[in-house]
Amino acid sequence: RRDGKGKYNDVPSSCATCSFDLIMSDRHPNIQSGSTSRPRYSAGVHNSRRPRSTTPFPEFPDLKTHEELYNFSLDYSETFWGTLARSRLTWSKDFTTVTDSSFETKTFGWFHGGELNASVNCIDRHLNERGEEPALIWEKDEPGESVFYSYRKLSETVGQIGNMLKNSGVKAGDRVTIYLSNSPTAVATMLACARIGAIHNVVFAGFSANALAARINDAQSETVITANTILRGGKLIPAKKTVDEAVTHCPCVRRVFVHFRTEVEVPMGKMDINMDKAMASEPVDCTVENRGSEDTLFMLYTSGSTGAPKGLIHSTAGYLLYANVTFKHAFDYNIGEKFGCVADIGWITGHSYVLYGPLSNGATTLLFESTPQYPDPGRYWEMVERLKLNHIYLSPTALRLLLKSGDGYVKKYNRSSLRKLGCVGEPLNHEAWEWYHKVVGEGRCDIIDTWWQTETGGICISPRPSEVGAEIIPAMPMRPMPGISLALVDNQGKETDAEKGALCIKKPWPGLARSIYGNHDRFLQTYFSNAPGLYYTGDGAHRYNNSHFQIIGRMDDVLNVSGHRLGTAEIEDVMDDHPDVSETAVIGFPHDIKGEGVYAYAVLKDERKSSKKEIEIELKSMIKTRIGGLALPEIILFTPSLPRTRSGKIMRRILRKIAANDFENLGDTSTLADPDVIKFIVDKHKELF
Ligand code: PRX
Repeated sequence: RRDGKGKYNDVPSSCATCSFDLIMSDRHPNIQSGSTSRPRYSAGVHNSRRPRSTTPFPEFPDLKTHEELYNFSLDYSETFWGTLARSRLTWSKDFTTVTDSSFETKTFGWFHGGELNASVNCIDRHLNERGEEPALIWEKDEPGESVFYSYRKLSETVGQIGNMLKNSGVKAGDRVTIYLSNSPTAVATMLACARIGAIHNVVFAGFSANALAARINDAQSETVITANTILRGGKLIPAKKTVDEAVTHCPCVRRVFVHFRTEVEVPMGKMDINMDKAMASEPVDCTVENRGSEDTLFMLYTSGSTGAPKGLIHSTAGYLLYANVTFKHAFDYNIGEKFGCVADIGWITGHSYVLYGPLSNGATTLLFESTPQYPDPGRYWEMVERLKLNHIYLSPTALRLLLKSGDGYVKKYNRSSLRKLGCVGEPLNHEAWEWYHKVVGEGRCDIIDTWWQTETGGICISPRPSEVGAEIIPAMPMRPMPGISLALVDNQGKETDAEKGALCIKKPWPGLARSIYGNHDRFLQTYFSNAPGLYYTGDGAHRYNNSHFQIIGRMDDVLNVSGHRLGTAEIEDVMDDHPDVSETAVIGFPHDIKGEGVYAYAVLKDERKSSKKEIEIELKSMIKTRIGGLALPEIILFTPSLPRTRSGKIMRRILRKIAANDFENLGDTSTLADPDVIKFIVDKHKELF
């Protein structure tokens, strides 16, 4: 199928159902194909605690290798997941059916008839054996300050918050919006919701008041929980002020709990309750609300290619089981080790690998409140030395940033406690992979590049190095996790044997989100219509040797900026509201550190009338206010028009190529409605760089 130059010659250059350019291994600067010719490494040879060739799944002692285990997980998936559900979770009522899920019939249920509670699984069942062991290590923003929370202390805090919420009228099924940064209070609040059956809705505390309000209103959340201020990188972030602004637009909100993270005083209104005081007077025992397997544990908003952010719904049993199993086996976690996922609880990584995966395994989990460069780029490694972390799990953006600061900040600290080095969120390029492996891990630790999504609930592709000696190929997540059956599909949505295509998952697995809050049709349309019978991830992938997968990037109009998902349509909507702007197009462009940066094209209503500099400032301020700083464009290019097909469709593919300085591959532009605009945009782009 290849023409010898590494390009496909019989595949149309763009996908029929989206604007993805299938010949796109060159789209992302960090993706270099041909990884098979790179050096390979053997997993766990230096620091595994496991003897060679024993199955990592104690539930299946006869399955001696990963291959056997993997095949079994697909061939006997009900036995596989049913056995794990009974052995790894504690149920108040056993389930009667493992699953009725089918992507053909679009049914998604797991463990019907069962009842359980996530907080019992994350806390109560560990109390006898591990009550005094650390559950949480809160690495505060203040450098060098950390607070240990035992399982007992966490249990008591959860009990008090649970009672406080119940007494103020929060009931099972209610949505509770949490706008807090990483802290024991935040984690205990999430678990308190789980305990009383309320649905937590964590909103990343970097989102603006407007973005927060949109999420509160969509969730119809009566309760909001925030802090007077948040501390991040030594700066005070006025969280309560943002919430005050947001709730003026949220008629559904009836109470706002305020935790005092700092000494800063904030005005308290009629709806506001001092959370620290309110919980202090509550008993530590809180009655458990048992939940049906399919009852919602939480919702979490994420960006899609069109429309408003979607509130993905995760189930209690299936999600918890998947977070539990993948945490244990992707990272080869052993009890007693300290696991350091530095993600914020506002993202799915924080949900699955700061909270639910580690705590349901009885692990000690880090809550990192700061930033990688505060007070200097040695922050992570100083923390590793001081806390003796055994695992660290971070983003490629942070790695690339730290790599640029040189090896000195790493080598200054003792990293001998580290065993596994994970990353997630974006493609991990070769340079960062090698640096992580050789400099950070001293060639001793396995690199675990994990691919997954808010929707998948937990890790779906990862090198799975718990089999000692398993090969690890740099810069790719490689192997599907047990129970995950991958497929690549072509432009027609049909499964293909080709090396590249749209990444799909064939078989149901328990961690998959169940719906989009209030819009199940959108859920079905987004994930189950492009490739009927399969879960459609929205990512493109490259398959090597028929088995190992490398992720190319998003195929739709979703950006991945520093591992954070942003819908181009969301940013365009804000910019289009500027009175002097007639239309806009937002795309991603390759960015050395962030992986992808935001590049906006804007057409003005009247070029002569407006000052472009002023409009640029106003546009940026609108984006910051309405979405948040993370969506700010690096570049706004003003153009008299946008390249369109004769049928009026904006040619984003061409805009992306220009933004990536790939002028040779613009393709045939003669069929555009106004071919001259390309030359204008290219010249302007060159001026800007
Ligand atoms: O494009 C993929 C990218 O992040 C997207 C999911 O984003 P989100 O739902 O915010 O979850 C991020 C954390 C799980 C994916 O569709 N992505 C995630 N992990 C990787 C990745 N891209 C390449 N390599 C990865 N390891």
